[in-house]
Amino acid sequence: MDKKVILSGIQATGNLTLGNYLGALSNWVEMQDEYNCYYMIADLHTLTIRNEPDALRKHTLELIALYIAAGLDPDKNTIFIQSHVPAHTELSWILNCYTYMGELSRMTQFKDKASKHADNINSGLFTYPVLMASDILLYNADLVPVGEDQRQHLELTRDIAQRFNSIYGDTFTVPDAYIAKVGAKIMGLQNPTAKMSKSSQDPMDIILLTDSPEDIRKKFKKAVTDSENCVRYDKENKPGVSNLMGIYGMIKKKTMEEIEEEFSGQGYGAFKTAVAEAVVERLEPIQAKYYSLLEDTEKLKQIYEKGDKKAEERASKMISEVYKKVGLVV
Ligand code: TRP
Repeated sequence: MDKKVILSGIQATGNLTLGNYLGALSNWVEMQDEYNCYYMIADLHTLTIRNEPDALRKHTLELIALYIAAGLDPDKNTIFIQSHVPAHTELSWILNCYTYMGELSRMTQFKDKASKHADNINSGLFTYPVLMASDILLYNADLVPVGEDQRQHLELTRDIAQRFNSIYGDTFTVPDAYIAKVGAKIMGLQNPTAKMSKSSQDPMDIILLTDSPEDIRKKFKKAVTDSENCVRYDKENKPGVSNLMGIYGMIKKKTMEEIEEEFSGQGYGAFKTAVAEAVVERLEPIQAKYYSLLEDTEKLKQIYEKGDKKAEERASKMISEVYKKVGLVV
């Protein structure tokens, strides 16, 4: 039986955090044997905000290095750069013609980003979910691992796929969201009621995947907790401690009860040290591999060229089918 197809991507904005790793990359690694996985660098999506051209190029290569360093095997997964496969933008145009302004206007991420970048509310920002739908539908992805913030885009993808299929007959697989078995959303260390975000203004709020062990220790030491001094999971009333427990649990593969047990009778000091050490221990080998890959630009190029080619083969078949269905001469 054919493996189910998974597709996901991360934008090349640089500065990935522990949240990106635990929330996305580490789950992807777990799926690479069971599924036929396509993991792309969503560089075209990154253009919806302004970037320094050199920085975007650099971030794209860094992200590929990080995919590999985090444990994605380029022989098992198709790792590629979105802009290297023209079918993404080609399908995106077609699907734009099957997506309503009203639907796009309802996207909460658009409203949110438009308010944050009031000086650059470009049409790409508006039609961004259609490009994302194209990424997914081109490969007949069955499952799409996404965070909460992308759920609405996935719903829209399903609607577009169903609409197209009902007009032209079965063409696209209607994808489902893939919800990781474990996977608490990682919150900020200083503001544990908001997602740990690379755009946070406060460097103490986030753990970057490239933070040094000293910085990681320092940041966990200063993480906001509460005055109870008891390691107990209670997301409502103890968001800081619960977030640290979530991080520890994901790394150590422990349940919240097991963590409460492990630290019963111990204060926050010992607990925070343990969380910091778990994170350092997990990130150190990833960082070592990441930095050595960054030096080896030839190797990185080989990796994405191989992925680009595999992605291109599959995507170009889909785009010709779509062109034919809508009535273009092919
Ligand atoms: N829009 C996603 C984000 O900003 C990234 C992305 C682009 C994506 N294309 C995708 C995620 C396809 C899943 C599937 O996080």
